[in-house]
Amino acid sequence: MSQKKRVGILISGRGSNMESLIGAARNADYPAEVVCVVSNRPEAEGLVKAAAAGIDAQAIDHRQFASREGFEEALDATLHAHGVEIIACAGFMRMLTPGFVNGWRDRMLNIHPSLLPAYRGLDTHTRALADGVKLAGCTVHIVRPELDCGPIIAQAAVPVLEHDTPDSLAARVLAAEHRVYPHALALFASGGVVVSGDRAALRQEPINQANPLYWPPVD
Ligand code: GRF
Repeated sequence: MSQKKRVGILISGRGSNMESLIGAARNADYPAEVVCVVSNRPEAEGLVKAAAAGIDAQAIDHRQFASREGFEEALDATLHAHGVEIIACAGFMRMLTPGFVNGWRDRMLNIHPSLLPAYRGLDTHTRALADGVKLAGCTVHIVRPELDCGPIIAQAAVPVLEHDTPDSLAARVLAAEHRVYPHALALFASGGVVVSGDRAALRQEPINQANPLYWPPVD
């Protein structure tokens, strides 16, 4: 197999998506390896989990910098010091400037807990419930400077149930996130994704074209 791509994960909190990526990357056949985890919040639980998994984990506290650019210079230096080729944002809650994002153009992924382009921004599950949508989900996309925008690599849809709360819906979506993010990163790292402008396409369409997900179910 060709050499594994070197991935740096950015987090701000719990780090469950980070764990799913680290877990997948343990597989000998996985086309990427996680070389570092960086959090902008020193208290992030995910840092402890990453260190326990034997990954170089460090905090770069954005509050210690006078400017956004100063923080991003430090972040960029750390990523380059680790030879990072792909950034995977996983619950990273800090807006990045166009300068940083464009410096990593087509080399930075994010996971967002909605079926983009619906529900960009925060509180996605509360807003989906208020709208009465019947399917919710998550999206892995390539990061562009505008919030929660960029070429979509993969999505997963889950049903919204009548008595869902934002927390119960979030839990159902999160379980899907943990499956779709490692899969999308593998596709991307192995060269299976072709990016042209604002669209990403699969180099090879999957043969197994699953049935559509109907909710409520259709007999
Ligand atoms: C996830 O729902 C992710 O989609 C969103 O923030 C949450 C992070 O959770 N961007 P975790 O830190 O990966 O557990």
